[in-house]
Amino acid sequence: MKTSNGESRLPQSDRATSVAAGHWVLARAGKRVLRPGGLKLTNRMLEAADLSGKKVLEFAPGLGRTAAIMLDKGLASYTGVDEDPDAVARVQAVVGSRGTVVTAQAQSTGLESESAEVVVGEAMLTMQGDKGKRAIISEAFRLLEPGGRYAIHELGLTPDPIDTELADQLRQRLARTIRVNARPLTRTEWCELLEQAGFSIEWVGFEPMALLSMRRNIADEGLSGVIRILRNVARDKDLRHRVLEMRALFKEYSENLTGIAIVARKPTLEP
Ligand SMILES: C[S@@+](CC[C@H](N)C(=O)[O-])C[C@H]1O[C@@H](n2cnc3c(N)ncnc32)[C@H](O)[C@@H]1O
Repeated sequence: MKTSNGESRLPQSDRATSVAAGHWVLARAGKRVLRPGGLKLTNRMLEAADLSGKKVLEFAPGLGRTAAIMLDKGLASYTGVDEDPDAVARVQAVVGSRGTVVTAQAQSTGLESESAEVVVGEAMLTMQGDKGKRAIISEAFRLLEPGGRYAIHELGLTPDPIDTELADQLRQRLARTIRVNARPLTRTEWCELLEQAGFSIEWVGFEPMALLSMRRNIADEGLSGVIRILRNVARDKDLRHRVLEMRALFKEYSENLTGIAIVARKPTLEP
């Protein structure tokens, strides 16, 4: 469905701001980059994943920001998979004839085995429980050719190891405030999950979790984007309440949250 300005509507636009998932609330405010380490960590991760000329599959492209960056690198092909049909329509509009975007769960895409050379997924594993994370990681493994790379950009916990009581408290506060069952992990825990699925770790990068800091937003959304966000937030009381609530939580736990990106490799076949 299209909005009056010709764009596909935002996901969850039929839900009240007070109950919509945090990332779609931020999108409603005007944010387009919805991952914890921002575009800087995305770009570092894409560099490490070596995408140029490759068959790329993206899990959960959201609003298509990373899809556009990757397509500019000259890919052999692009396929996106998001569970939300409104997100799929948005990303298909960004990608046009340069790729295909399908509505499916990343746990079971229905796509052909070994059909991708790189699988990319940002800010989507964090919102799954342990079983969901493992199912998505093994689907990435199935979809990759031998030697292919899986690049993830997610929410991390620090220090590593973190006190388990603090981690539980933080997960509960995140779930209550973002209205998403967010389950971030430490570097060791993310790496172990990937290794247990058969991947080997090639590269790990960090950038601060600064989703709602002014400096990050100017870098990611541009000055005009920030002005649009500030105007939207000033005009809408419910939006303001949700955004300020999330910002306060991120600030309170700034020492324990980080953006983390990992590039992992599927083994090549034995000679
Ligand atoms: C926080 S947004 C991130 C969007 C984008 N990757 C970004 O970083 O800006 C989460 C995205 O994950 C998608 N998503 C969540 N769970 C999913 C699943 N199991 N399979 C496919 N997509 C999923 C949502 O629809 C949404 O587009």
